[in-house]
Amino acid sequence: MPVFQPAAHELEPIERASRDELQALQLQRLQDTLRRVYENVPHYRQAFDAAGVHPEDCRSLADLAKFPFTAKSDLRRHYPFGLFAVPRQQVVRLHASSGTTGKPMVVGYTQADIDTWAHLMARSIRAAGGRQGDIVQVAYGYGLFTGGLGAHYGAEALGCTVVPLGGGQTEKQVQLIEDLRPDLIMVTPSYMQVIVEEFRRQGKDSRAMSVAVGIFGAEPWTEAMRADIEASADLKAVDIYGLSEVMGPGVACECVETQDGPVVWEDHFYPEIIDPETGAVLPDGEEGELVFTTLTKEALPLVRYRTRDLTRLLPPTARGMRRMGKIVGRSDDMLIIRGVNLFPTQVEEIVLRHGQLSGQYQLVVTRSGLLDELRVRCELTPAHMHADREVLARELQHQIKALIGVTATVDVGLPDSIERTLVGKARRVIDQRPR
Ligand code: DLL
Repeated sequence: MPVFQPAAHELEPIERASRDELQALQLQRLQDTLRRVYENVPHYRQAFDAAGVHPEDCRSLADLAKFPFTAKSDLRRHYPFGLFAVPRQQVVRLHASSGTTGKPMVVGYTQADIDTWAHLMARSIRAAGGRQGDIVQVAYGYGLFTGGLGAHYGAEALGCTVVPLGGGQTEKQVQLIEDLRPDLIMVTPSYMQVIVEEFRRQGKDSRAMSVAVGIFGAEPWTEAMRADIEASADLKAVDIYGLSEVMGPGVACECVETQDGPVVWEDHFYPEIIDPETGAVLPDGEEGELVFTTLTKEALPLVRYRTRDLTRLLPPTARGMRRMGKIVGRSDDMLIIRGVNLFPTQVEEIVLRHGQLSGQYQLVVTRSGLLDELRVRCELTPAHMHADREVLARELQHQIKALIGVTATVDVGLPDSIERTLVGKARRVIDQRPR
């Protein structure tokens, strides 16, 4: 395993800047963004006027708290181009994020936005240990999803050799890893597990693959999943975060030398954590909903955009910017089973404690009468296909009750009995309750 410690000259000056320098830049960019949206986007003018605030009222970063939030529903309401701050003719690219209900959300980029995105993705890949000349296999989906093209442009900007395979074609993924010997792979963590399984299915040693670093994101994943992937593929697993509305991947990325939570690229995105009920800004370290204000975006600037992702802001370590904790879940993903709040990631941690289980799992929620019922489905690894499934199921059921407080039925299936997601995000929750 190579040693990953960036030399000082490999960092951009802003990555090493003092908090004061960073905050001065943030304030100047924030004031500019507030002025631009007020002048160019009717939605913001109305929302600011209704809240009795004007861009001139923002004299310090703390003043941002006076401004109204922007919600996913605002993007839907102004579908498709209503929140753009530039004439549509200046928009060189559209992406879309598929909502669970109704219309997708359409996001747009000027050429300068695309350049900033490539720059921040290059910075992210460098933080993850990538360097000019490395071979990067991109296994995030290409298309309206921001993962594939975001990774692609960033890796090219860094000077890497890009293998634009996209999601799916698992046998091809394995073949190209063996033939082209990529140094890095960029993929969802759940699909990385599928690639590892395919190595094993072909009777090959997944630990022998050339990949030194995996840059994983687009879905919640736990430290238990990190340990599982690092051990099975002998690589460093780095967490990358982003969302289409704010840009795409590369809003924040972990540094490989510390692996202690994605660093928010605060020179371009101003993060806040709020209490999701009251909207009050919470101090660093406390868990709540992540909110972003974009500081440099032209086509689709967003002010205090509520991501619905739950996490914490943490002090800087390897870079001068703050980090975020692992995403615990989205407030949308939280299940309430007989009054107990539960995130799929809590079940993931328990499943991955058992070496006999593959780490693939699903939560099926049904309703019988007035009560919700939870069934947790998981499966044996091929190496443990003769393990006692009843005993394991009872153990898991006990741990879920003891650690989460929910009574669940547990099914331990045979190897490969859970459907894999080959393109896009793993589907962990199947909610069969009547609407
Ligand atoms: O998933 C962008 C992306 C692509 C990020 C590739 C990282 C890698 P959306 O499809 O708009 O964009 O989904 C954004 O995915 O609000 C989170 O809920 C979730 N998410 C993204 N990255 C992570 C992560 C892309 N590292 C939504 N950990 C976000 C946990 C993540 N959740």
